[in-house]
Amino acid sequence: MVEINPWASQQSLDIDRLFSEFGIEPIGNVLDILPEVPSFMKRGIVIGHRDYTQIAGCIRDRKPFHILTGFMPSGHPHLGHLMVMKEVVWHVRQGGTGYITIADREAHAVRDTSWEKCSEYGKEYLACLYALGFEGKTYFQSRNDRLKDLAFECSTKVNYSELQAIYGFSSETSLGHMLSVITQVADILYPQVDSYPAPTVVPVGIDQDPHIRLTRGVAHKLRMFTVEDRGDHISVRSKNAPPEALEAVHARYPGSRKYEGHVDIQGSACADVSATVRQVELSFGGFGFFAPSSTYHVFIPGLQGGKMSSSIPESTISFAEPDEVVRKKVMAALTGGRATLAEQREQGGEPEKCPLFLLNLFHMVEDDRELEELRMKCRSGQLMCGQCKKETADRVLSFVREMREKMAAVEHLIEV
Ligand code: TRP
Repeated sequence: MVEINPWASQQSLDIDRLFSEFGIEPIGNVLDILPEVPSFMKRGIVIGHRDYTQIAGCIRDRKPFHILTGFMPSGHPHLGHLMVMKEVVWHVRQGGTGYITIADREAHAVRDTSWEKCSEYGKEYLACLYALGFEGKTYFQSRNDRLKDLAFECSTKVNYSELQAIYGFSSETSLGHMLSVITQVADILYPQVDSYPAPTVVPVGIDQDPHIRLTRGVAHKLRMFTVEDRGDHISVRSKNAPPEALEAVHARYPGSRKYEGHVDIQGSACADVSATVRQVELSFGGFGFFAPSSTYHVFIPGLQGGKMSSSIPESTISFAEPDEVVRKKVMAALTGGRATLAEQREQGGEPEKCPLFLLNLFHMVEDDRELEELRMKCRSGQLMCGQCKKETADRVLSFVREMREKMAAVEHLIEV
Protein backbone atom coordinates (compact mmCIF):
# COMPACT_ATOMS: atom_id res chain seq x y z
CA MET A 1 0.00 0.00 0.00
CA VAL A 2 1.43 3.39 -0.96
CA GLU A 3 0.80 6.18 1.41
CA ILE A 4 0.54 9.78 0.28
CA ASN A 5 1.67 12.24 2.89
CA PRO A 6 0.64 15.84 2.24
CA TRP A 7 3.31 17.16 4.60
CA ALA A 8 6.32 15.14 3.38
CA SER A 9 9.17 17.29 2.12
CA GLN A 10 10.27 14.79 -0.48
CA GLN A 11 8.35 12.08 -2.16
CA SER A 12 8.57 10.22 -5.38
CA LEU A 13 5.30 8.76 -6.41
CA ASP A 14 4.69 6.09 -8.96
CA ILE A 15 1.87 7.73 -10.87
CA ASP A 16 0.44 4.62 -12.49
CA ARG A 17 0.29 2.73 -9.24
CA LEU A 18 -1.20 5.70 -7.54
CA PHE A 19 -3.94 5.95 -10.09
CA SER A 20 -4.87 2.30 -9.94
CA GLU A 21 -4.63 1.99 -6.18
CA PHE A 22 -6.50 5.14 -5.32
CA GLY A 23 -8.95 5.28 -8.20
CA ILE A 24 -7.73 8.52 -9.74
CA GLU A 25 -8.69 8.64 -13.41
CA PRO A 26 -6.45 9.79 -16.26
CA ILE A 27 -7.39 13.27 -17.52
CA GLY A 28 -7.57 11.99 -21.11
CA ASN A 29 -11.04 10.60 -20.55
CA VAL A 30 -12.67 14.02 -20.07
CA LEU A 31 -10.98 16.01 -22.82
CA ASP A 32 -13.67 15.21 -25.37
CA ILE A 33 -16.31 16.86 -23.21
CA LEU A 34 -14.50 20.19 -22.84
CA PRO A 35 -15.27 22.81 -25.48
CA GLU A 36 -11.73 24.15 -25.12
CA VAL A 37 -8.83 22.07 -23.79
CA PRO A 38 -6.44 24.25 -21.77
CA SER A 39 -2.72 23.93 -22.39
CA PHE A 40 -2.09 22.53 -18.90
CA MET A 41 -4.16 19.51 -19.90
CA LYS A 42 -2.76 19.26 -23.43
CA ARG A 43 0.83 19.46 -22.21
CA GLY A 44 0.53 16.67 -19.68
CA ILE A 45 0.75 18.88 -16.58
CA VAL A 46 -2.70 18.06 -15.26
CA ILE A 47 -2.73 14.31 -15.53
CA GLY A 48 -5.53 12.95 -13.38
CA HIS A 49 -8.88 13.66 -11.80
CA ARG A 50 -11.70 12.46 -9.62
CA ASP A 51 -15.21 13.01 -10.88
CA TYR A 52 -14.16 15.80 -13.25
CA THR A 53 -16.69 14.55 -15.81
CA GLN A 54 -19.40 16.47 -13.97
CA ILE A 55 -17.31 19.66 -14.07
CA ALA A 56 -16.52 19.26 -17.78
CA GLY A 57 -20.27 18.76 -18.31
CA CYS A 58 -21.05 21.98 -16.41
CA ILE A 59 -18.52 23.88 -18.52
CA ARG A 60 -19.94 22.48 -21.74
CA ASP A 61 -23.57 23.04 -20.75
CA ARG A 62 -22.89 26.38 -19.04
CA LYS A 63 -24.26 25.13 -15.74
CA PRO A 64 -23.10 26.53 -12.40
CA PHE A 65 -20.07 25.07 -10.68
CA HIS A 66 -17.53 26.22 -8.12
CA ILE A 67 -13.76 26.21 -8.21
CA LEU A 68 -11.78 26.33 -5.00
CA THR A 69 -8.20 25.87 -4.02
CA GLY A 70 -6.00 26.81 -1.11
CA PHE A 71 -2.50 28.02 -0.36
CA MET A 72 -0.54 27.50 2.80
CA PRO A 73 1.18 30.81 3.63
CA SER A 74 4.36 29.39 5.11
CA GLY A 75 6.62 31.25 2.66
CA HIS A 76 6.55 33.63 -0.30
CA PRO A 77 4.58 32.49 -3.35
CA HIS A 78 6.89 31.36 -6.17
CA LEU A 79 7.00 29.66 -9.57
CA GLY A 80 5.86 26.39 -7.99
CA HIS A 81 2.46 27.87 -7.14
CA LEU A 82 1.71 29.30 -10.55
CA MET A 83 0.19 26.19 -12.07
CA VAL A 84 -2.65 25.81 -9.67
CA MET A 85 -3.29 29.56 -9.81
CA LYS A 86 -3.62 29.40 -13.58
CA GLU A 87 -5.97 26.45 -13.27
CA VAL A 88 -8.22 28.45 -10.97
CA VAL A 89 -8.23 31.47 -13.25
CA TRP A 90 -9.03 29.28 -16.27
CA HIS A 91 -11.97 27.64 -14.49
CA VAL A 92 -13.34 31.02 -13.41
CA ARG A 93 -13.20 32.11 -17.05
CA GLN A 94 -15.11 28.95 -17.97
CA GLY A 95 -17.96 30.04 -15.70
CA GLY A 96 -16.93 28.72 -12.28
CA THR A 97 -17.53 30.68 -9.09
CA GLY A 98 -14.03 31.25 -7.72
CA TYR A 99 -12.91 30.67 -4.14
CA ILE A 100 -9.46 30.91 -2.61
CA THR A 101 -8.60 29.91 0.93
CA ILE A 102 -5.43 31.01 2.65
CA ALA A 103 -4.61 28.09 4.92
CA ASP A 104 -3.11 30.05 7.79
CA ARG A 105 -4.43 27.58 10.36
CA GLU A 106 -2.49 24.82 8.61
CA ALA A 107 0.67 26.94 8.27
CA HIS A 108 0.50 27.85 11.96
CA ALA A 109 -0.28 24.33 13.19
CA VAL A 110 1.97 22.33 10.88
CA ARG A 111 4.78 24.72 9.91
CA ASP A 112 4.76 26.88 13.01
CA THR A 113 4.46 30.05 10.94
CA SER A 114 3.60 33.11 13.05
CA TRP A 115 0.22 34.75 12.46
CA GLU A 116 2.02 37.88 11.36
CA LYS A 117 3.95 36.02 8.67
CA CYS A 118 0.81 34.11 7.66
CA SER A 119 -0.87 37.41 7.02
CA GLU A 120 2.06 38.86 5.09
CA TYR A 121 2.54 35.80 2.86
CA GLY A 122 -1.20 35.27 2.50
CA LYS A 123 -1.60 38.73 1.00
CA GLU A 124 1.20 38.02 -1.45
CA TYR A 125 -0.60 34.88 -2.65
CA LEU A 126 -3.77 36.88 -3.16
CA ALA A 127 -1.86 39.57 -5.06
CA CYS A 128 -0.47 36.89 -7.41
CA LEU A 129 -3.91 35.47 -8.00
CA TYR A 130 -5.47 38.82 -8.79
CA ALA A 131 -2.49 39.68 -10.98
CA LEU A 132 -3.20 36.53 -12.98
CA GLY A 133 -6.83 37.56 -13.43
CA PHE A 134 -8.60 35.79 -10.58
CA GLU A 135 -12.14 36.89 -9.80
CA GLY A 136 -14.10 35.58 -6.86
CA LYS A 137 -14.03 35.25 -3.10
CA THR A 138 -11.02 34.85 -0.87
CA TYR A 139 -10.59 34.29 2.84
CA PHE A 140 -8.09 33.42 5.56
CA GLN A 141 -9.11 30.26 7.44
CA SER A 142 -8.50 31.81 10.85
CA ARG A 143 -10.78 34.75 10.16
CA ASN A 144 -13.78 32.93 8.72
CA ASP A 145 -16.30 31.98 11.42
CA ARG A 146 -18.72 30.22 9.10
CA LEU A 147 -15.88 28.09 7.86
CA LYS A 148 -14.95 27.16 11.40
CA ASP A 149 -18.56 26.23 12.18
CA LEU A 150 -18.63 24.07 9.07
CA ALA A 151 -15.37 22.44 10.13
CA PHE A 152 -16.95 21.55 13.45
CA GLU A 153 -19.95 20.03 11.69
CA CYS A 154 -17.58 18.01 9.49
CA SER A 155 -15.61 16.87 12.50
CA THR A 156 -18.65 14.97 13.77
CA LYS A 157 -18.22 12.59 10.82
CA VAL A 158 -14.51 11.80 11.17
CA ASN A 159 -12.89 9.66 13.82
CA TYR A 160 -9.31 9.06 14.80
CA SER A 161 -8.93 5.70 13.04
CA GLU A 162 -9.84 7.32 9.77
CA LEU A 163 -7.20 10.02 10.22
CA GLN A 164 -4.71 7.35 11.15
CA ALA A 165 -5.52 5.31 8.05
CA ILE A 166 -5.46 8.27 5.67
CA TYR A 167 -2.58 10.35 7.05
CA GLY A 168 -0.69 7.97 9.29
CA PHE A 169 -1.46 10.16 12.31
CA SER A 170 -0.22 8.80 15.61
CA SER A 171 -0.68 9.49 19.28
CA GLU A 172 2.03 12.17 18.87
CA THR A 173 0.04 14.17 16.32
CA SER A 174 -1.12 17.49 17.72
CA LEU A 175 -4.78 18.32 17.89
CA GLY A 176 -3.99 21.51 15.95
CA HIS A 177 -2.71 19.44 13.05
CA MET A 178 -5.92 17.43 13.08
CA LEU A 179 -7.96 20.63 13.24
CA SER A 180 -6.13 21.96 10.21
CA VAL A 181 -7.18 18.81 8.33
CA ILE A 182 -10.85 19.22 9.17
CA THR A 183 -10.55 22.91 8.31
CA GLN A 184 -9.37 21.91 4.84
CA VAL A 185 -12.33 19.55 4.53
CA ALA A 186 -14.57 22.51 5.39
CA ASP A 187 -12.69 24.70 2.86
CA ILE A 188 -13.52 22.28 0.09
CA LEU A 189 -17.21 22.20 0.98
CA TYR A 190 -17.42 25.91 1.82
CA PRO A 191 -18.48 27.23 -1.62
CA GLN A 192 -21.56 25.01 -1.48
CA VAL A 193 -22.54 26.53 1.86
CA ASP A 194 -21.56 30.10 1.02
CA SER A 195 -23.24 30.07 -2.42
CA TYR A 196 -25.39 26.99 -3.11
CA PRO A 197 -24.82 23.27 -3.65
CA ALA A 198 -23.09 22.70 -7.00
CA PRO A 199 -20.29 20.54 -8.35
CA THR A 200 -17.00 21.92 -7.06
CA VAL A 201 -13.57 21.31 -8.54
CA VAL A 202 -10.43 21.48 -6.45
CA PRO A 203 -7.22 21.65 -8.49
CA VAL A 204 -4.31 20.33 -6.45
CA GLY A 205 -1.01 18.50 -6.62
CA ILE A 206 -1.21 14.78 -6.11
CA ASP A 207 0.03 15.10 -2.54
CA GLN A 208 -3.31 16.64 -1.58
CA ASP A 209 -5.38 13.66 -2.65
CA PRO A 210 -5.84 12.35 0.91
CA HIS A 211 -7.76 15.53 1.75
CA ILE A 212 -9.94 15.07 -1.31
CA ARG A 213 -10.76 11.47 -0.37
CA LEU A 214 -11.57 12.43 3.18
CA THR A 215 -13.78 15.32 2.04
CA ARG A 216 -15.68 13.20 -0.46
CA GLY A 217 -16.47 10.82 2.38
CA VAL A 218 -17.58 13.61 4.70
CA ALA A 219 -19.73 15.20 1.97
CA HIS A 220 -21.51 11.89 1.56
CA LYS A 221 -21.94 11.34 5.29
CA LEU A 222 -23.46 14.79 5.75
CA ARG A 223 -26.19 14.07 3.21
CA MET A 224 -29.68 13.19 4.52
CA PHE A 225 -30.48 10.96 1.57
CA THR A 226 -28.92 8.74 -1.05
CA VAL A 227 -30.46 8.52 -4.50
CA GLU A 228 -29.92 5.34 -6.48
CA ASP A 229 -30.91 4.37 -9.98
CA ARG A 230 -32.26 0.83 -9.74
CA GLY A 231 -33.09 0.45 -13.43
CA ASP A 232 -36.87 0.28 -13.28
CA HIS A 233 -37.14 2.77 -10.41
CA ILE A 234 -35.23 5.36 -8.43
CA SER A 235 -34.72 4.63 -4.77
CA VAL A 236 -34.40 7.54 -2.34
CA ARG A 237 -33.05 6.31 0.96
CA SER A 238 -32.95 8.21 4.18
CA LYS A 239 -29.62 8.04 5.98
CA ASN A 240 -30.46 10.40 8.77
CA ALA A 241 -33.27 12.52 7.38
CA PRO A 242 -36.06 13.63 9.68
CA PRO A 243 -39.23 11.61 8.93
CA GLU A 244 -40.96 14.74 7.61
CA ALA A 245 -38.25 15.15 4.99
CA LEU A 246 -38.83 11.64 3.68
CA GLU A 247 -42.54 12.40 3.63
CA ALA A 248 -41.81 15.57 1.65
CA VAL A 249 -39.95 13.55 -1.00
CA HIS A 250 -42.88 11.16 -1.20
CA ALA A 251 -45.32 14.08 -1.58
CA ARG A 252 -43.28 15.58 -4.45
CA TYR A 253 -43.79 12.42 -6.54
CA PRO A 254 -47.41 11.39 -6.77
CA GLY A 255 -47.55 7.64 -7.38
CA SER A 256 -44.26 7.01 -5.55
CA ARG A 257 -44.21 4.40 -2.80
CA LYS A 258 -43.05 5.07 0.67
CA TYR A 259 -41.53 2.33 2.78
CA GLU A 260 -39.71 2.25 6.08
CA GLY A 261 -36.75 4.55 5.41
CA HIS A 262 -37.07 4.85 1.65
CA VAL A 263 -39.24 6.05 -1.20
CA ASP A 264 -39.35 4.33 -4.61
CA ILE A 265 -40.09 6.50 -7.60
CA GLN A 266 -41.02 5.35 -11.09
CA GLY A 267 -41.13 7.24 -14.36
CA SER A 268 -38.70 10.02 -13.42
CA ALA A 269 -35.13 10.69 -14.47
CA CYS A 270 -32.48 10.10 -11.83
CA ALA A 271 -30.92 13.55 -12.29
CA ASP A 272 -34.33 15.10 -11.75
CA VAL A 273 -34.99 13.16 -8.59
CA SER A 274 -31.50 14.01 -7.29
CA ALA A 275 -32.16 17.71 -7.78
CA THR A 276 -35.54 17.53 -6.04
CA VAL A 277 -34.16 15.53 -3.13
CA ARG A 278 -31.39 18.10 -2.73
CA GLN A 279 -33.99 20.87 -2.52
CA VAL A 280 -35.96 18.96 0.09
CA GLU A 281 -32.78 18.37 2.05
CA LEU A 282 -31.95 22.09 2.01
CA SER A 283 -35.44 23.04 3.12
CA PHE A 284 -35.01 20.78 6.15
CA GLY A 285 -31.73 22.35 7.13
CA GLY A 286 -29.42 19.85 5.40
CA PHE A 287 -26.41 20.60 3.20
CA GLY A 288 -27.29 18.84 -0.05
CA PHE A 289 -23.60 18.54 -0.92
CA PHE A 290 -22.24 17.37 -4.23
CA ALA A 291 -19.12 15.28 -3.65
CA PRO A 292 -16.22 17.50 -4.72
CA SER A 293 -14.20 16.80 -7.85
CA SER A 294 -10.47 17.28 -8.22
CA THR A 295 -7.71 17.56 -10.76
CA TYR A 296 -4.12 16.51 -10.14
CA HIS A 297 -1.12 18.18 -11.66
CA VAL A 298 2.48 17.03 -11.66
CA PHE A 299 5.00 19.25 -9.93
CA ILE A 300 7.40 21.47 -11.77
CA PRO A 301 10.93 20.38 -10.83
CA GLY A 302 13.24 22.69 -8.93
CA LEU A 303 15.76 24.68 -10.98
CA GLN A 304 18.48 22.38 -9.69
CA GLY A 305 16.41 19.23 -10.18
CA GLY A 306 14.59 17.71 -7.21
CA LYS A 307 11.84 19.53 -5.46
CA MET A 308 10.83 23.15 -6.04
CA SER A 309 10.26 24.66 -2.65
CA SER A 310 10.73 27.95 -0.84
CA SER A 311 12.82 26.08 1.73
CA ILE A 312 15.44 25.50 -1.02
CA PRO A 313 16.06 29.06 -2.30
CA GLU A 314 18.08 27.98 -5.40
CA SER A 315 15.23 25.72 -6.51
CA THR A 316 12.76 28.46 -7.27
CA ILE A 317 12.12 32.10 -8.00
CA SER A 318 9.71 34.26 -6.09
CA PHE A 319 8.25 37.40 -7.58
CA ALA A 320 9.92 39.86 -5.27
CA GLU A 321 13.47 38.81 -6.14
CA PRO A 322 15.77 41.37 -7.83
CA ASP A 323 16.47 40.95 -11.55
CA GLU A 324 20.11 39.90 -11.08
CA VAL A 325 19.07 37.11 -8.72
CA VAL A 326 16.42 35.88 -11.13
CA ARG A 327 18.92 35.80 -14.00
CA LYS A 328 21.57 34.14 -11.89
CA LYS A 329 19.23 31.39 -10.74
CA VAL A 330 18.20 30.57 -14.29
CA MET A 331 21.80 30.63 -15.53
CA ALA A 332 22.81 28.26 -12.71
CA ALA A 333 20.00 25.79 -13.36
CA LEU A 334 20.48 22.13 -14.07
CA THR A 335 19.76 21.25 -17.70
CA GLY A 336 19.24 18.20 -19.82
CA GLY A 337 22.51 18.86 -21.67
CA ARG A 338 25.35 16.40 -22.29
CA ALA A 339 28.80 16.34 -20.70
CA THR A 340 30.53 18.16 -23.55
CA LEU A 341 29.46 20.49 -26.33
CA ALA A 342 30.65 18.00 -28.94
CA GLU A 343 28.57 15.26 -27.41
CA GLN A 344 25.57 17.51 -27.27
CA ARG A 345 25.92 18.51 -30.93
CA GLU A 346 26.05 14.87 -31.84
CA GLN A 347 23.41 13.35 -29.55
CA GLY A 348 21.22 16.37 -28.78
CA GLY A 349 19.90 17.36 -25.35
CA GLU A 350 17.20 15.70 -23.31
CA PRO A 351 14.44 18.30 -22.92
CA GLU A 352 12.07 16.04 -20.97
CA LYS A 353 14.68 15.70 -18.25
CA CYS A 354 15.55 19.40 -18.20
CA PRO A 355 14.14 21.62 -15.44
CA LEU A 356 14.51 24.65 -17.69
CA PHE A 357 12.66 23.05 -20.58
CA LEU A 358 9.91 22.12 -18.16
CA LEU A 359 9.82 25.68 -16.85
CA ASN A 360 9.27 26.79 -20.44
CA LEU A 361 6.65 24.11 -20.93
CA PHE A 362 4.79 24.94 -17.72
CA HIS A 363 4.85 28.71 -17.91
CA MET A 364 7.20 30.58 -20.16
CA VAL A 365 6.25 29.56 -23.69
CA GLU A 366 2.55 29.83 -24.40
CA ASP A 367 2.63 29.16 -28.10
CA ASP A 368 2.54 25.41 -28.85
CA ARG A 369 4.53 25.72 -32.05
CA GLU A 370 7.24 27.75 -30.38
CA LEU A 371 7.50 25.14 -27.63
CA GLU A 372 7.75 22.32 -30.15
CA GLU A 373 10.49 24.19 -31.98
CA LEU A 374 12.40 24.57 -28.74
CA ARG A 375 12.06 20.87 -28.02
CA MET A 376 13.23 19.88 -31.51
CA LYS A 377 16.17 22.26 -31.55
CA CYS A 378 17.31 20.89 -28.20
CA ARG A 379 16.85 17.28 -29.14
CA SER A 380 18.63 17.65 -32.45
CA GLY A 381 21.65 19.35 -30.95
CA GLN A 382 21.10 22.69 -32.66
CA LEU A 383 20.45 24.60 -29.46
CA MET A 384 23.10 24.54 -26.74
CA CYS A 385 22.29 24.98 -23.07
CA GLY A 386 24.11 28.31 -22.69
CA GLN A 387 22.04 29.93 -25.40
CA CYS A 388 18.82 28.35 -24.17
CA LYS A 389 19.50 29.51 -20.61
CA LYS A 390 19.96 33.07 -21.81
CA GLU A 391 16.72 32.99 -23.75
CA THR A 392 14.88 31.39 -20.85
CA ALA A 393 16.27 33.93 -18.40
CA ASP A 394 14.93 36.72 -20.64
CA ARG A 395 11.51 35.10 -20.67
CA VAL A 396 11.50 34.57 -16.92
CA LEU A 397 12.64 38.12 -16.30
CA SER A 398 9.96 39.68 -18.41
CA PHE A 399 7.39 37.41 -16.77
CA VAL A 400 8.53 38.29 -13.25
CA ARG A 401 8.68 42.01 -14.03
CA GLU A 402 5.17 41.95 -15.41
CA MET A 403 3.96 39.97 -12.39
CA ARG A 404 5.46 42.52 -10.02
CA GLU A 405 3.77 45.40 -11.82
CA LYS A 406 0.44 43.67 -11.87
CA MET A 407 0.75 42.64 -8.23
CA ALA A 408 1.33 46.26 -7.26
CA ALA A 409 -1.66 47.32 -9.33
CA VAL A 410 -4.11 44.90 -7.66
CA GLU A 411 -3.21 45.60 -4.06
CA HIS A 412 -6.49 47.41 -3.46
CA LEU A 413 -8.40 44.18 -4.18
CA ILE A 414 -6.94 42.42 -1.17
CA GLU A 415 -9.24 42.80 1.79
CA VAL A 416 -8.27 41.34 5.10
N1 TRP B 1 -3.12 21.90 2.31
C1 TRP B 1 -2.92 22.79 1.20
C2 TRP B 1 -1.39 22.99 1.03
O1 TRP B 1 -0.62 22.43 1.75
C3 TRP B 1 -3.59 24.11 1.40
C4 TRP B 1 -5.09 24.03 1.41
C5 TRP B 1 -5.89 24.37 2.48
C6 TRP B 1 -5.97 23.63 0.38
N2 TRP B 1 -7.19 24.23 2.16
C7 TRP B 1 -7.28 23.78 0.90
C8 TRP B 1 -5.78 23.15 -0.92
C9 TRP B 1 -8.38 23.45 0.13
C10 TRP B 1 -6.89 22.85 -1.67
C11 TRP B 1 -8.19 22.99 -1.14
O2 TRP B 1 -0.97 23.70 0.16
